[in-house]
Amino acid sequence: MSKPRIIVTGGAGYIGSHIVKALVEKEYCVIVYDRKPIPGGLRALQAGGLLHGIQADLADRAALDAALRKFEPNAAINLAGYIAVGESVRDPGKYYDNNIANGLNLLDALLAGGVKCFVFSSSAAVYGMPREVPIAEDHPTAPINPYGRTKWFFEHILRDYDAAYGLRSISLRYFNAAGADHSGEIGEAHDPETHLVPLVLQVPMGLRDSVAIFGSDYPTRDGTCVRDYIHVTDLADAHVRAVEALLDGSPTDVFNLGNGEGCTVREVIAAAEEVVGGNIKTLDAPRRPGDPAALVASSEKAMQKLGWRPKHNTLKIIIQTAWQWHKRQMGKDA
Ligand code: UFG
Repeated sequence: MSKPRIIVTGGAGYIGSHIVKALVEKEYCVIVYDRKPIPGGLRALQAGGLLHGIQADLADRAALDAALRKFEPNAAINLAGYIAVGESVRDPGKYYDNNIANGLNLLDALLAGGVKCFVFSSSAAVYGMPREVPIAEDHPTAPINPYGRTKWFFEHILRDYDAAYGLRSISLRYFNAAGADHSGEIGEAHDPETHLVPLVLQVPMGLRDSVAIFGSDYPTRDGTCVRDYIHVTDLADAHVRAVEALLDGSPTDVFNLGNGEGCTVREVIAAAEEVVGGNIKTLDAPRRPGDPAALVASSEKAMQKLGWRPKHNTLKIIIQTAWQWHKRQMGKDA
């Protein structure tokens, strides 16, 4: 019997492209539905006939219906969301429109197409300012910005859709996704860039003079914020496991995804200096509004129920793989 078909909305993005690669390597048939074309780094996989691309918007119900009719997927993974916290504060309408309204468009199209397994890209942002770390899934949720609220609302929508329509879902609450595929073919780039690891690496690439450290007076071991950096390949593996669990009949659930270990901003910069073999100039800057002092996951539940174990779980591997990809991009631009 042939393997199930999975539609990955937002599959051309940073995390999405790593998930797509992991699924195709396990011989699933994957349909990437995205506004952007399939990234160049995945094109080699298309030769095997398991990877298909539809370039269209989630708001376009006719395009969604046509894709679902053509490929008849068995499950969906949705990563097609906006991700910039600061922008969500300045322009919440953009976030509610894409992350919620377009997400509903997708859910309704899936139900009409008979798809009842759904993996959702959620975020540690649902916890807001945590009361304690490590954070388990039953920690109170209290998002503090529109981005986090879109993820929180959508998790609730998914529970309601299960109760009413039988759509089973797994929401995966990522902590800080970072790193790149070991091949160096796919990696992280946002425009504009706001994430720490790529910003730090832009200094040795000569794209910026220094990296700002947002706050040095937090109650942490060196005064800078603590985050739980999780390798994107480990995140991708969790998505494969989540979709397989749903296809096997697992109920609706939510899981944290992190390494369970926090690193400070200064530790990230020190690890990057070691990887690139040189100093990275920093600039002490004020705190960024809305940044919790520490966000560290307990991923015990994902380990127990999905059998997931992060394998690329050191800052060094995360930064080495990110650096390998960034250097390759630099070569392409030269
Ligand atoms: N930071 C700096 N300088 C920079 C950029 C970031 O010091 O130039 C710091 C931030 O203050 C933070 C850490 O580096 O302490 C990581 O910042 P990122 O912007 O890379 O990531 P966040 O922790 O803000 O965001 C992540 C996800 C979001 C999610 C959020 C949940 O990327 O999608 O966690 O709080 F919403």
